[in-house]
Amino acid sequence: MLDWVKDALHAQETGGLSWHASAWMAKNRWETTQRSINAFLMGQSMTQSELILIGGSAGWMMPTSWLAKFKKIRIIDIDPLASIFFNMNHGKGLKNAGTSWKFERRDGLRELTLLIKESPNAFIWFDNVLGQQCFKLKDEDLVQRQLKHIKMVLKNHHWGSIHDWLSGPIDLAAPASLHPIVFKDTSNTVSFASAEPAAHAQENILVLNNKSMDFDTGTQLLLNAVNASGQWQDHLSAEVFPSSQPCELIPWFFKPNYCHLLLASFMKPVDS
Ligand SMILES: C[S@@+](CC[C@H](N)C(=O)[O-])C[C@H]1O[C@@H](n2cnc3c(N)ncnc32)[C@H](O)[C@@H]1O
Repeated sequence: MLDWVKDALHAQETGGLSWHASAWMAKNRWETTQRSINAFLMGQSMTQSELILIGGSAGWMMPTSWLAKFKKIRIIDIDPLASIFFNMNHGKGLKNAGTSWKFERRDGLRELTLLIKESPNAFIWFDNVLGQQCFKLKDEDLVQRQLKHIKMVLKNHHWGSIHDWLSGPIDLAAPASLHPIVFKDTSNTVSFASAEPAAHAQENILVLNNKSMDFDTGTQLLLNAVNASGQWQDHLSAEVFPSSQPCELIPWFFKPNYCHLLLASFMKPVDS
């Protein structure tokens, strides 16, 4: 019972009522990011009829139109209250589309192997959950090992993820100058010099593709565009995807002065 209440309140520091309240209050500010996520998800053709949505919560950042592409959805989340808000956000649209959905209060990472055994043909989507494992597990090595391992466990499946990669303060009054970004390899944080503010920074989506753009350059450009400054947090999720995988990097202005960079990509079975 105590675990139930704790997970309802803050889901082991990854969500819960505090997440629902933030999402509810930030609806307008998050709209640009939601549109980017929408375009990214809808741009991918889906052949699977079942979806396993890990960390789905209330689907605050998720378009109903994408969810409605599936006939059946299993929402895996440790937050016992998430289903109430999910039904509020997506219930009507999914019913109209003839999609059925079911909530399961389970740990989607600990039980990943079991979940794919239960639904071997499902598409698996990690919905802004992998970048939160550093708060839940509080063990850097364990988090990195666990996140790195996902691509091995899912190597024969269609899957994907959108997750926090980096997050930190933005300086709204920063001088217009470009400075190199200094990565501190060994710590859990990244430091930035002041960066150039960009007009329409919130409109920026950067597609990182090995062929056309060097990863560090692309990241730096986006960080400059969002005016990153001070200490940034590494969410330890850089190795979720193989290094050769093209990813989309989406800025998310979580608070007026605090930005997250979300990494997103779709993965195919290795032998396809
Ligand atoms: C940042 S919230 C994202 C919520 C959701 N994607 C949305 O758009 O509303 C992270 C969610 O992941 C859930 N979560 C964290 N770790 C989890 C795990 N190991 N297994 C299942 N759910 C988890 C939390 O309960 C929370 O609902």
